[in-house]
Amino acid sequence: MIRVDQASKQFPGKNGSPVTALSDVSLDIDSGEFVMIVGPSGSGKSTLLFTIGGMQHPSEGKVLFADDDVYSLSSTKRAALRRTRIGFVFQTFNLVPYLNCLDNVIVPAVLAGKSRGKSLRHATELLERLGLADRLKHRPSELSVGERQRVALCRSLINDPVVILADEPTGNLDEAMTGEVMEILRSLNADGQTILMATHNPQLAEQGTRLVTLDKGAVVQDESFATEVAVS
Ligand SMILES: Nc1ncnc2c1ncn2[C@@H]1O[C@H](COP(=O)(O)OP(=O)(O)O)[C@@H](O)[C@H]1O
Ligand SMILES: [Mg+2]
Repeated sequence: MIRVDQASKQFPGKNGSPVTALSDVSLDIDSGEFVMIVGPSGSGKSTLLFTIGGMQHPSEGKVLFADDDVYSLSSTKRAALRRTRIGFVFQTFNLVPYLNCLDNVIVPAVLAGKSRGKSLRHATELLERLGLADRLKHRPSELSVGERQRVALCRSLINDPVVILADEPTGNLDEAMTGEVMEILRSLNADGQTILMATHNPQLAEQGTRLVTLDKGAVVQDESFATEVAVS
């Protein structure tokens, strides 16, 4: 479904020598996978997610999204792909402070040209599903940080994305809230949602179906876990 083909990325460094953020990364990601991207700080996790998400042009190589070569698309088409087929979740939530939960969640739907009424109904369903039925009209500042991340998750889901890209989504959460968010991600994945999540927490990494380890921008390990087979 998503193919990263020999992608590399260099950034200009402070002292003139380039910094390698991605080094010849190739990955094939299938529908239904929950891919954990792990590695130390600076190993290229965020760069990989942003590259896959059409937000960071690789220096070499390509990203294929179904049949689309993401960085050969016009910028308008690439923006449309980002809006309609990808859901992003960030460590810092990135909610709009003056909008209530419902209005935050519908932003990507309205940008994609969907009607406000229909979007509000869908947003209500999502917020209810993620346990926020009594928070619909609250603003982000009136919520716990765990609730804020659940609102951001609802926003990432509003356009029924083919993949969710989550960059350290639990990085600002305590253990209990981390557990809640991970449980939601696992349940979305159990319902078929493809997820790529970057984390530097090795304890969370084993909750995916696949573990990709980066070091200095290169994939040093790529391991899929066999899903349990029911024995009758
Ligand atoms: N916009 C940028 N400009 C310059 N260097 C960058 C930029 N983004 C990332 N880097 C560098 O690329 C490397 C990988 O960064 P990043 O993908 O953020 O790693 P991670 O998410 O694993 O911490 C780091 O050395 C980082 O400093
Ligand atoms: Mg990062």
